[in-house]
Amino acid sequence: MSEMRLFVNIDHVATVRQARRADEPDPVRAAVLVELGGADGITVHLREDRRHIQDRDVRLLAETIRTPMNLELAASSEILELTCALKPMQATLVPEKREEVTTEGGLALSTDAQRSSTAEAVRRLIDAGVRTSLFIDPEEDAVRASADLGVDAIELHTGEYANTSGADRKGQLARLVRAAELGRAVGLDVHAGHGLTYENVWPIAAIPELEELNIGHSIVARALFTGLEAAVREMTEIIRRARA
Ligand code: PXP
Repeated sequence: MSEMRLFVNIDHVATVRQARRADEPDPVRAAVLVELGGADGITVHLREDRRHIQDRDVRLLAETIRTPMNLELAASSEILELTCALKPMQATLVPEKREEVTTEGGLALSTDAQRSSTAEAVRRLIDAGVRTSLFIDPEEDAVRASADLGVDAIELHTGEYANTSGADRKGQLARLVRAAELGRAVGLDVHAGHGLTYENVWPIAAIPELEELNIGHSIVARALFTGLEAAVREMTEIIRRARA
């Protein structure tokens, strides 16, 4: 089984700062602790409404972090320009609605119009030399459409898995396994994320085809009590054991 990379999403460090429009806590300092805790990379989502991460954060993180950056962004935005200029190691295209509390679903890729707006963003990122991933629902059509768009990777949306329990959760897990297998079979790297916690991550981390997890809220929430470094270390340990 391949190694599993953990990318920690530090948006909510900035959420606390923006609650007061103050200068602390600083995501750049958070990134240092996340790296010391053993994370393989830093993820941030530069949202169109700039509700948490700001442009300056992305610039400073790009200059200072020691691990790769995964920048999440919507396809049709001026943020695409910034991304192409900053050239993070990886960009993940996500759908974005202003009124949503957090990303609600995977990219819509079922119509020609939807595919062509994503294709244009993918082309710009690839031309800029940025590794490109698409955040999609764990559906066969979405996996195949992603492969057709020529991206390097897909990130499977684990939100529905996280929001269910019992037999429904087993069904969602099976859906994720099928999508991960198909993703690998069509030559994509397969990532997963959204809603993953210390309690529910284990079965996801054990899916052999997955190579990267993106986890934010649960780790930042735990860090309030244990500190960021310890919170990250605890998550990497669970993932390591699930993989063994
Ligand atoms: N992956 C993507 C594409 C996301 O948009 C988010 C949330 O910003 C995450 C992963 C992390 O989700 P969570 O904060 O629930 O761990």
